[in-house]
Amino acid sequence: MSVELSTSGKVLRATSVSAGYDGRAIVHEIDVEATPGKVVSVVGPNGSGKSTLLKSLVGVVPVLAGTVTVGDTEITNLAPERIAMLGVGYVPQIDDVFPPLSVKENLEIGGYLLPRHDVASQIEAVLEFFPRLRTMMSRKAGKLSGGERKMLAMGRVLMLSPSVLVLDEPTANLAPLVATQLLEEYIRGFADHGSTVLLVEQRAKAALRISDWTCVLSGGRVVLSGAPRDLENNPLFVESFLGGGAARA
Ligand SMILES: Nc1ncnc2c1ncn2[C@@H]1O[C@H](COP(=O)(O)OP(=O)(O)OP(=O)(O)O)[C@@H](O)[C@H]1O
Ligand SMILES: [Mg+2]
Repeated sequence: MSVELSTSGKVLRATSVSAGYDGRAIVHEIDVEATPGKVVSVVGPNGSGKSTLLKSLVGVVPVLAGTVTVGDTEITNLAPERIAMLGVGYVPQIDDVFPPLSVKENLEIGGYLLPRHDVASQIEAVLEFFPRLRTMMSRKAGKLSGGERKMLAMGRVLMLSPSVLVLDEPTANLAPLVATQLLEEYIRGFADHGSTVLLVEQRAKAALRISDWTCVLSGGRVVLSGAPRDLENNPLFVESFLGGGAARA
């Protein structure tokens, strides 16, 4: 992989973070740490606050208490652009690309904080990582398949060579094979090349397969966390996420 992803990931750390909307906390006292070379995943039922947590880390939702740091820098409640400039790339669950714009234009927008003369070479680097996008540069993002669209959304964020990637359900609505490829090849690949990855994933089994550490969020709180092997052997986790016919591949 020759994309100019930063090879020196940074630690993203949330310490006792509470965050929510209109001054009312949805997630409470969350401690989570994502480190270079590792995938940390957050799983949990719908409405448990996974997206709210990620948004609070990247400046989209206010942190009401606690701190967020990247490397040695505190980023609590900084503007999202500042946080992006400090090396944290965020791919939201929805609204991840600009549908009426072309693939090329979406990538250019991803590079909006780069010096102008670096944009073309960075697009080239992103295309080496996601070669499929090369053949569709003039296609409107709204016309892409689900998997292609996620590649574009991630490519857009890679334009700034982030050292931390924060990904909110990148495989939602994707066919199982495409989801597996995205997780095992690309997202695990980011970490294997030194980036820090914090991932929200609905497919608990698939998340465990590529994660070094997983937190379970329920009702806005971390109710369980551990290495995949420990969670796989935890009856509570198995019952909620892996067993009972309700398994999510
Ligand atoms: N903009 C908002 N204003 C007020 N409440 C919100 C807002 N966005 C989300 N919420 C509420 O916060 C709670 C957590 O939502 P959130 O989207 O963080 O959950 P989630 O775990 O990401 O769910 P899903 O798995 O469906 O994506 C929900 O009760 C939701 O209704
Ligand atoms: Mg969500």
